[in-house]
Amino acid sequence: MNHHVASARPDDEPAAQEAGFAQAVIDGLSSEQKTLPCRFFYDAIGSELFEEITRVPEYYPTRTEAALLEGSAAGIAARTKPGTVLVEFGSGSSRKTEILLAQMPHLAAYVPIDVSEDALREAQERLAQRFPALEVLPVVGDFGADLHLPRELADAPRLGFFPGSTIGNLVPHDAQALLAQMGRQLDGGRLIVGVDLRKDLSVLIPAYNDAAGVTAAFNLNLLTRINRELGGDFDLRGFRHDAVWNGEEGRIEMHLVSRRAQEVHLQGHVFSFREGEHIHTENSYKYTLEGFRRVAEGAGWRVTSVWTDARDWFSLQELSRD
Ligand code: SAH
Ligand code: AVI
Repeated sequence: MNHHVASARPDDEPAAQEAGFAQAVIDGLSSEQKTLPCRFFYDAIGSELFEEITRVPEYYPTRTEAALLEGSAAGIAARTKPGTVLVEFGSGSSRKTEILLAQMPHLAAYVPIDVSEDALREAQERLAQRFPALEVLPVVGDFGADLHLPRELADAPRLGFFPGSTIGNLVPHDAQALLAQMGRQLDGGRLIVGVDLRKDLSVLIPAYNDAAGVTAAFNLNLLTRINRELGGDFDLRGFRHDAVWNGEEGRIEMHLVSRRAQEVHLQGHVFSFREGEHIHTENSYKYTLEGFRRVAEGAGWRVTSVWTDARDWFSLQELSRD
Protein backbone atom coordinates (compact mmCIF):
# COMPACT_ATOMS: atom_id res chain seq x y z
CA MET A 1 0.00 0.00 0.00
CA ASN A 2 1.41 3.40 -0.90
CA HIS A 3 0.12 5.56 1.87
CA HIS A 4 -0.90 5.19 5.46
CA VAL A 5 -2.37 8.27 6.99
CA ALA A 6 -3.69 6.64 10.14
CA SER A 7 -2.69 8.02 13.47
CA ALA A 8 0.01 5.86 15.03
CA ARG A 9 -2.08 4.81 18.00
CA PRO A 10 -0.61 1.88 19.99
CA ASP A 11 -3.56 -0.40 19.20
CA ASP A 12 -2.89 0.01 15.47
CA GLU A 13 0.16 -2.26 15.94
CA PRO A 14 -0.44 -5.89 14.85
CA ALA A 15 0.64 -7.39 18.20
CA ALA A 16 -1.64 -5.02 20.11
CA GLN A 17 -4.45 -5.71 17.64
CA GLU A 18 -4.09 -9.45 18.29
CA ALA A 19 -4.09 -8.85 22.04
CA GLY A 20 -7.25 -6.75 21.59
CA PHE A 21 -8.86 -9.55 19.59
CA ALA A 22 -7.91 -12.19 22.19
CA GLN A 23 -9.19 -10.10 25.08
CA ALA A 24 -12.46 -9.30 23.28
CA VAL A 25 -13.05 -12.98 22.51
CA ILE A 26 -12.23 -14.11 26.08
CA ASP A 27 -14.47 -11.39 27.57
CA GLY A 28 -17.29 -12.14 25.14
CA LEU A 29 -17.25 -15.90 25.74
CA SER A 30 -17.01 -15.40 29.52
CA SER A 31 -20.24 -13.43 29.82
CA GLU A 32 -23.60 -14.96 30.76
CA GLN A 33 -24.96 -14.34 27.21
CA LYS A 34 -21.93 -15.27 25.11
CA THR A 35 -21.09 -12.64 22.48
CA LEU A 36 -18.39 -11.92 19.90
CA PRO A 37 -17.93 -8.40 18.41
CA CYS A 38 -18.95 -8.24 14.74
CA ARG A 39 -15.99 -6.09 13.67
CA PHE A 40 -13.89 -9.28 13.83
CA PHE A 41 -15.82 -10.85 10.93
CA TYR A 42 -13.63 -8.99 8.44
CA ASP A 43 -10.37 -10.88 8.05
CA ALA A 44 -9.37 -11.51 4.40
CA ILE A 45 -11.79 -14.45 4.06
CA GLY A 46 -14.57 -12.65 5.92
CA SER A 47 -14.26 -9.59 3.67
CA GLU A 48 -14.53 -11.86 0.62
CA LEU A 49 -17.53 -13.65 2.08
CA PHE A 50 -19.20 -10.30 2.74
CA GLU A 51 -18.65 -9.39 -0.93
CA GLU A 52 -20.28 -12.70 -1.85
CA ILE A 53 -23.22 -11.88 0.44
CA THR A 54 -23.76 -8.64 -1.47
CA ARG A 55 -24.35 -10.74 -4.61
CA VAL A 56 -26.79 -13.36 -3.22
CA PRO A 57 -30.35 -12.72 -4.44
CA GLU A 58 -31.80 -12.44 -0.92
CA TYR A 59 -29.41 -9.68 0.26
CA TYR A 60 -31.26 -6.59 -0.98
CA PRO A 61 -29.29 -3.75 0.78
CA THR A 62 -26.32 -3.46 -1.58
CA ARG A 63 -28.32 -3.46 -4.82
CA THR A 64 -30.94 -1.10 -3.40
CA GLU A 65 -28.38 1.35 -2.07
CA ALA A 66 -26.38 1.27 -5.32
CA ALA A 67 -29.54 2.23 -7.24
CA LEU A 68 -30.17 5.11 -4.78
CA LEU A 69 -26.61 6.32 -5.29
CA GLU A 70 -27.01 6.19 -9.07
CA GLY A 71 -29.94 8.56 -8.70
CA SER A 72 -28.43 10.90 -6.13
CA ALA A 73 -24.69 11.07 -6.89
CA ALA A 74 -24.90 13.97 -9.36
CA GLY A 75 -26.79 16.13 -6.84
CA ILE A 76 -24.41 15.22 -4.02
CA ALA A 77 -21.45 16.05 -6.28
CA ALA A 78 -22.99 19.41 -7.21
CA ARG A 79 -23.02 20.33 -3.49
CA THR A 80 -19.35 19.27 -3.09
CA LYS A 81 -16.63 21.90 -3.56
CA PRO A 82 -13.58 21.10 -5.74
CA GLY A 83 -10.67 20.17 -3.48
CA THR A 84 -12.85 18.24 -1.02
CA VAL A 85 -11.51 15.12 0.73
CA LEU A 86 -13.97 12.21 0.55
CA VAL A 87 -13.69 10.14 3.76
CA GLU A 88 -15.37 6.72 3.75
CA PHE A 89 -16.05 4.78 6.95
CA GLY A 90 -15.96 0.94 6.63
CA SER A 91 -15.21 1.14 2.91
CA GLY A 92 -14.66 -2.59 2.27
CA SER A 93 -14.44 -3.10 -1.50
CA SER A 94 -15.29 0.59 -2.26
CA ARG A 95 -17.46 -0.68 -5.16
CA LYS A 96 -20.46 1.56 -4.49
CA THR A 97 -18.07 4.46 -3.94
CA GLU A 98 -17.20 4.33 -7.63
CA ILE A 99 -20.68 5.69 -8.35
CA LEU A 100 -19.83 8.82 -6.33
CA LEU A 101 -16.24 9.06 -7.54
CA ALA A 102 -17.38 9.03 -11.17
CA GLN A 103 -19.26 12.28 -10.46
CA MET A 104 -16.45 13.90 -8.44
CA PRO A 105 -13.40 14.42 -10.66
CA HIS A 106 -12.05 17.31 -8.57
CA LEU A 107 -11.57 15.67 -5.17
CA ALA A 108 -8.31 16.45 -3.34
CA ALA A 109 -8.21 12.81 -2.12
CA TYR A 110 -10.27 9.77 -1.25
CA VAL A 111 -9.62 8.38 2.25
CA PRO A 112 -11.13 4.89 2.73
CA ILE A 113 -11.03 3.71 6.37
CA ASP A 114 -11.41 0.02 7.19
CA VAL A 115 -10.15 -2.60 9.64
CA SER A 116 -9.58 -4.96 6.71
CA GLU A 117 -6.19 -4.24 5.14
CA ASP A 118 -6.81 -6.83 2.39
CA ALA A 119 -10.06 -5.17 1.33
CA LEU A 120 -8.34 -1.75 1.29
CA ARG A 121 -5.44 -3.01 -0.82
CA GLU A 122 -7.72 -4.63 -3.40
CA ALA A 123 -9.90 -1.53 -3.59
CA GLN A 124 -6.88 0.74 -4.02
CA GLU A 125 -5.56 -1.36 -6.89
CA ARG A 126 -8.92 -1.39 -8.66
CA LEU A 127 -9.50 2.35 -8.17
CA ALA A 128 -6.02 3.13 -9.56
CA GLN A 129 -7.12 1.51 -12.83
CA ARG A 130 -10.40 3.34 -13.16
CA PHE A 131 -9.42 6.70 -11.59
CA PRO A 132 -5.67 7.09 -12.23
CA ALA A 133 -5.69 10.79 -11.25
CA LEU A 134 -7.38 10.17 -7.89
CA GLU A 135 -5.21 10.30 -4.79
CA VAL A 136 -6.24 7.35 -2.58
CA LEU A 137 -5.02 7.47 1.03
CA PRO A 138 -6.20 4.30 2.81
CA VAL A 139 -6.40 4.16 6.59
CA VAL A 140 -6.20 0.73 8.23
CA GLY A 141 -7.99 1.02 11.53
CA ASP A 142 -11.12 1.76 13.51
CA PHE A 143 -13.43 4.28 11.89
CA GLY A 144 -14.16 5.73 15.32
CA ALA A 145 -10.54 6.79 15.85
CA ASP A 146 -9.37 10.36 15.36
CA LEU A 147 -8.51 11.15 11.77
CA HIS A 148 -5.14 12.68 10.96
CA LEU A 149 -4.77 13.74 7.35
CA PRO A 150 -1.44 14.79 5.80
CA ARG A 151 -0.66 18.46 6.48
CA GLU A 152 -1.46 19.62 2.92
CA LEU A 153 -5.00 18.23 3.28
CA ALA A 154 -5.62 19.27 6.87
CA ASP A 155 -7.65 22.35 5.90
CA ALA A 156 -9.48 20.88 2.88
CA PRO A 157 -13.28 20.60 3.16
CA ARG A 158 -14.44 17.06 4.02
CA LEU A 159 -17.36 14.94 2.86
CA GLY A 160 -18.13 11.75 4.79
CA PHE A 161 -19.56 8.57 3.26
CA PHE A 162 -20.83 5.75 5.50
CA PRO A 163 -22.78 3.36 3.28
CA GLY A 164 -24.04 -0.21 3.65
CA SER A 165 -26.04 0.46 6.84
CA THR A 166 -22.93 -0.44 8.83
CA ILE A 167 -24.34 2.12 11.31
CA GLY A 168 -27.04 -0.53 11.95
CA ASN A 169 -24.43 -2.89 13.39
CA LEU A 170 -24.14 -0.63 16.45
CA VAL A 171 -26.73 -0.33 19.22
CA PRO A 172 -28.42 3.09 18.87
CA HIS A 173 -26.56 4.59 21.84
CA ASP A 174 -23.21 3.68 20.26
CA ALA A 175 -24.48 4.67 16.80
CA GLN A 176 -25.24 8.14 18.16
CA ALA A 177 -21.78 8.42 19.75
CA LEU A 178 -20.13 7.29 16.50
CA LEU A 179 -22.11 9.80 14.41
CA ALA A 180 -21.07 12.55 16.83
CA GLN A 181 -17.43 11.47 16.50
CA MET A 182 -17.78 11.50 12.71
CA GLY A 183 -19.05 15.05 13.02
CA ARG A 184 -15.73 15.93 14.68
CA GLN A 185 -13.71 13.94 12.10
CA LEU A 186 -15.48 15.74 9.25
CA ASP A 187 -14.92 19.16 10.78
CA GLY A 188 -18.13 20.81 9.54
CA GLY A 189 -18.48 18.66 6.39
CA ARG A 190 -21.60 16.71 5.40
CA LEU A 191 -22.10 12.97 5.89
CA ILE A 192 -23.85 10.65 3.41
CA VAL A 193 -25.08 7.60 5.31
CA GLY A 194 -26.88 4.42 4.19
CA VAL A 195 -29.58 3.29 6.63
CA ASP A 196 -31.56 0.07 6.25
CA LEU A 197 -35.27 0.31 7.04
CA ARG A 198 -37.95 -1.84 8.73
CA LYS A 199 -39.67 -4.29 6.41
CA ASP A 200 -41.53 -7.55 6.25
CA LEU A 201 -39.81 -10.49 7.92
CA SER A 202 -40.34 -12.55 4.77
CA VAL A 203 -37.72 -10.27 3.18
CA LEU A 204 -35.51 -9.65 6.21
CA ILE A 205 -34.92 -13.18 7.46
CA PRO A 206 -33.78 -14.69 4.13
CA ALA A 207 -31.45 -11.70 3.64
CA TYR A 208 -29.58 -12.94 6.73
CA ASN A 209 -30.05 -16.66 6.05
CA ASP A 210 -29.59 -17.07 2.29
CA ALA A 211 -30.30 -20.38 0.60
CA ALA A 212 -26.72 -20.79 -0.66
CA GLY A 213 -25.39 -20.58 2.92
CA VAL A 214 -23.01 -17.67 2.31
CA THR A 215 -24.18 -15.75 5.40
CA ALA A 216 -23.81 -18.95 7.44
CA ALA A 217 -20.22 -19.31 6.18
CA PHE A 218 -19.56 -15.61 7.01
CA ASN A 219 -20.82 -16.11 10.57
CA LEU A 220 -18.95 -19.40 11.13
CA ASN A 221 -15.74 -17.90 9.72
CA LEU A 222 -15.43 -15.98 13.00
CA LEU A 223 -14.76 -19.31 14.76
CA THR A 224 -12.25 -20.32 12.06
CA ARG A 225 -10.48 -16.99 12.60
CA ILE A 226 -10.38 -17.53 16.39
CA ASN A 227 -8.90 -21.01 15.86
CA ARG A 228 -6.28 -19.77 13.39
CA GLU A 229 -5.22 -16.49 14.97
CA LEU A 230 -5.70 -17.26 18.66
CA GLY A 231 -5.16 -21.04 18.78
CA GLY A 232 -8.74 -21.94 19.77
CA ASP A 233 -10.19 -25.41 19.17
CA PHE A 234 -13.77 -24.66 18.03
CA ASP A 235 -15.20 -27.65 16.15
CA LEU A 236 -16.92 -25.96 13.20
CA ARG A 237 -19.33 -28.89 12.84
CA GLY A 238 -20.47 -28.29 16.41
CA PHE A 239 -22.11 -24.91 15.63
CA ARG A 240 -24.76 -23.69 13.21
CA HIS A 241 -25.73 -20.23 11.97
CA ASP A 242 -29.05 -18.66 12.97
CA ALA A 243 -30.64 -15.29 12.16
CA VAL A 244 -33.64 -14.04 14.16
CA TRP A 245 -35.70 -10.87 14.34
CA ASN A 246 -35.78 -9.16 17.75
CA GLY A 247 -38.96 -7.09 17.49
CA GLU A 248 -38.50 -5.30 20.81
CA GLU A 249 -35.12 -3.94 19.73
CA GLY A 250 -35.94 -3.62 16.01
CA ARG A 251 -32.96 -5.65 14.87
CA ILE A 252 -31.87 -8.80 13.11
CA GLU A 253 -29.55 -10.81 15.33
CA MET A 254 -27.05 -13.35 14.12
CA HIS A 255 -26.13 -16.20 16.42
CA LEU A 256 -23.94 -19.29 16.39
CA VAL A 257 -25.83 -22.13 18.06
CA SER A 258 -24.06 -25.01 19.77
CA ARG A 259 -25.39 -28.26 18.32
CA ARG A 260 -24.43 -30.22 21.46
CA ALA A 261 -22.96 -29.81 24.92
CA GLN A 262 -19.25 -29.16 24.40
CA GLU A 263 -16.13 -27.44 25.69
CA VAL A 264 -13.90 -25.06 23.75
CA HIS A 265 -10.32 -24.24 24.80
CA LEU A 266 -8.57 -20.96 24.14
CA GLN A 267 -5.35 -19.61 25.63
CA GLY A 268 -5.75 -21.44 28.93
CA HIS A 269 -9.49 -20.75 29.22
CA VAL A 270 -12.23 -23.38 28.98
CA PHE A 271 -15.65 -22.32 27.69
CA SER A 272 -18.58 -24.70 28.25
CA PHE A 273 -21.58 -24.73 25.93
CA ARG A 274 -24.97 -26.31 26.60
CA GLU A 275 -26.78 -27.92 23.67
CA GLY A 276 -28.67 -25.06 21.94
CA GLU A 277 -26.66 -22.30 23.67
CA HIS A 278 -26.09 -19.25 21.42
CA ILE A 279 -23.14 -16.95 20.82
CA HIS A 280 -24.59 -13.59 19.78
CA THR A 281 -22.35 -12.38 16.93
CA GLU A 282 -24.11 -9.43 15.27
CA ASN A 283 -26.95 -6.94 15.50
CA SER A 284 -28.30 -5.32 12.37
CA TYR A 285 -30.77 -2.59 13.36
CA LYS A 286 -33.54 -1.70 10.94
CA TYR A 287 -34.61 1.91 11.49
CA THR A 288 -37.71 3.92 10.75
CA LEU A 289 -36.88 7.28 9.15
CA GLU A 290 -38.12 8.99 12.30
CA GLY A 291 -36.05 6.69 14.55
CA PHE A 292 -32.86 7.39 12.63
CA ARG A 293 -33.55 11.12 12.57
CA ARG A 294 -33.65 11.10 16.39
CA VAL A 295 -30.27 9.32 16.54
CA ALA A 296 -28.72 11.71 13.99
CA GLU A 297 -30.09 14.81 15.75
CA GLY A 298 -28.89 13.48 19.11
CA ALA A 299 -25.42 13.40 17.52
CA GLY A 300 -25.62 17.04 16.41
CA TRP A 301 -26.61 16.41 12.78
CA ARG A 302 -29.55 17.65 10.73
CA VAL A 303 -31.05 15.33 8.10
CA THR A 304 -31.06 17.50 4.96
CA SER A 305 -31.97 14.95 2.24
CA VAL A 306 -33.41 11.43 2.22
CA TRP A 307 -33.55 9.12 -0.80
CA THR A 308 -35.56 5.88 -0.59
CA ASP A 309 -36.49 3.20 -3.12
CA ALA A 310 -40.09 2.62 -4.26
CA ARG A 311 -40.59 -0.13 -1.64
CA ASP A 312 -39.03 1.95 1.18
CA TRP A 313 -36.55 -0.85 1.89
CA PHE A 314 -33.41 1.27 2.25
CA SER A 315 -32.51 4.92 2.67
CA LEU A 316 -29.59 7.07 1.74
CA GLN A 317 -29.45 10.19 3.88
CA GLU A 318 -27.48 13.42 3.72
CA LEU A 319 -26.64 14.89 7.13
CA SER A 320 -25.36 18.42 7.72
CA ARG A 321 -24.02 20.26 10.76
CA ASP A 322 -25.52 23.68 9.96
N1 SAH B 1 -19.15 -0.12 2.83
C1 SAH B 1 -19.18 -1.46 2.21
C2 SAH B 1 -18.79 -2.56 3.19
C3 SAH B 1 -19.78 -2.81 4.30
S1 SAH B 1 -19.27 -4.21 5.29
C4 SAH B 1 -20.56 -1.68 1.66
O1 SAH B 1 -21.42 -0.84 1.88
O2 SAH B 1 -20.77 -2.68 0.99
C5 SAH B 1 -18.69 -3.35 6.73
C6 SAH B 1 -17.26 -2.87 6.53
O3 SAH B 1 -16.91 -2.12 7.68
C7 SAH B 1 -16.25 -4.01 6.41
O4 SAH B 1 -15.39 -3.77 5.33
C8 SAH B 1 -15.51 -3.99 7.74
O5 SAH B 1 -14.17 -4.42 7.65
C9 SAH B 1 -15.64 -2.54 8.16
N2 SAH B 1 -15.66 -2.31 9.61
C10 SAH B 1 -16.46 -2.89 10.52
N3 SAH B 1 -16.23 -2.37 11.75
C11 SAH B 1 -15.25 -1.43 11.57
C12 SAH B 1 -14.59 -0.54 12.46
N4 SAH B 1 -14.88 -0.50 13.76
N5 SAH B 1 -13.65 0.29 11.94
C13 SAH B 1 -13.34 0.27 10.61
N6 SAH B 1 -13.94 -0.57 9.73
C14 SAH B 1 -14.88 -1.40 10.21
C1 AVI C 1 -22.02 -4.59 7.12
N1 AVI C 1 -23.36 -4.81 7.65
C2 AVI C 1 -24.21 -3.64 7.45
C3 AVI C 1 -23.99 -6.05 7.18
C4 AVI C 1 -25.46 -6.12 7.67
O1 AVI C 1 -26.33 -6.31 6.81
O2 AVI C 1 -25.70 -5.95 8.86
C5 AVI C 1 -23.23 -7.27 7.63
C6 AVI C 1 -23.93 -8.55 7.34
N2 AVI C 1 -24.23 -9.48 8.22
C7 AVI C 1 -24.87 -10.45 7.62
N3 AVI C 1 -25.01 -10.17 6.36
C8 AVI C 1 -24.44 -8.97 6.14
